[in-house]
Amino acid sequence: MVRGERDFVVSIDGSNQYSATATFRTGYGREKVTVRFLSARYQLFSNRRRKATSNDLSSESVERFLAQPDIHQEWIDTYYRAENQAYYELVFDYIISILKPSKGSMFLDAGCGNCAHSIRLANRGFFVQAIDFSEAALEMARKNVSARGLQGKISITRENILALPFEDDTFKYVLCWGVLMHIPNVEKAISELARVLKPAGAIVISENNMHSLQSVILRNVRRFLVKGKRDVRNTPAGMEYWRYGPAEALLTREANIRWLIERFKSSRLTLDRRLADEFTEAYIRISLRPLRNSIHRFNKFWFKYVKTPYPAYGNIVILRKEE
Ligand SMILES: C[S@@+](CC[C@H](N)C(=O)[O-])C[C@H]1O[C@@H](n2cnc3c(N)ncnc32)[C@H](O)[C@@H]1O
Repeated sequence: MVRGERDFVVSIDGSNQYSATATFRTGYGREKVTVRFLSARYQLFSNRRRKATSNDLSSESVERFLAQPDIHQEWIDTYYRAENQAYYELVFDYIISILKPSKGSMFLDAGCGNCAHSIRLANRGFFVQAIDFSEAALEMARKNVSARGLQGKISITRENILALPFEDDTFKYVLCWGVLMHIPNVEKAISELARVLKPAGAIVISENNMHSLQSVILRNVRRFLVKGKRDVRNTPAGMEYWRYGPAEALLTREANIRWLIERFKSSRLTLDRRLADEFTEAYIRISLRPLRNSIHRFNKFWFKYVKTPYPAYGNIVILRKEE
């Protein structure tokens, strides 16, 4: 029987968890119960048993979303069509020309997905430790790698970037392509990636840029035309877009690239280079093939001859760890 004082607070925190906390005075003392609602479902935690932070909860729900094969297939169908392969080959040639790794160097591909980029690295003569926390993605990765006979060069294991099993200073090169944008606790991810990087080693990341032309235009179009229909949060790390399933959620962040560089700095990594990745992803919304091809040509032109990252949607950031 519950009697006496009771307070009830409903809040929506930065990671999009709706929570209600009630404190009851029972015959056995004060009992605090927190109910967190995620999308239509809810989870119940007694604070006595478990103290979950909102970061834990949103990380868990993103992990559940990414456990599903459909989202990985959606990305493959969107970004790995034959028509944009030439672009990625150009980009990886350029990255290697900057890093100048000796033949046989080892890369960590953190958040490898279907291993498309691990394969690019292996084809250029390097070894790769490819990790991802999604078994669905890893299944696609294993098929891809064995179809090309690259098992000897790419080792695939299931790991979470937030708790890497590697010793400090293990890898000279880390690739983290299109991954941080899906991690709610991005600060923890940065410190883990920095931890496993060797002194003088380099990390290459690709993230979407919240200050790009595409982001600014689409943000304003959405603000006026689709008011209230999307869950968008403005955070120091960038603009966070949340998409929901029945019991899971996917975060896609358009990064505040300067903030990201500063965070790496506090893990003793300094900026070597920031350059444009794809200027725009507008091709994903266009079905007319010739128009899509013109966009790919423009992206290639921008990457090859202009490289200025500030108006570009994709940004590549290369950082080096202090010696
Ligand atoms: C957009 S995909 C990019 C895949 C690959 N890097 C590429 O560019 O093709 C993001 C990948 O990051 C993985 N991922 C997200 N958060 C992760 C985490 N905390 N630990 C390990 N993998 C993660 C996802 O499962 C997914 O395969």
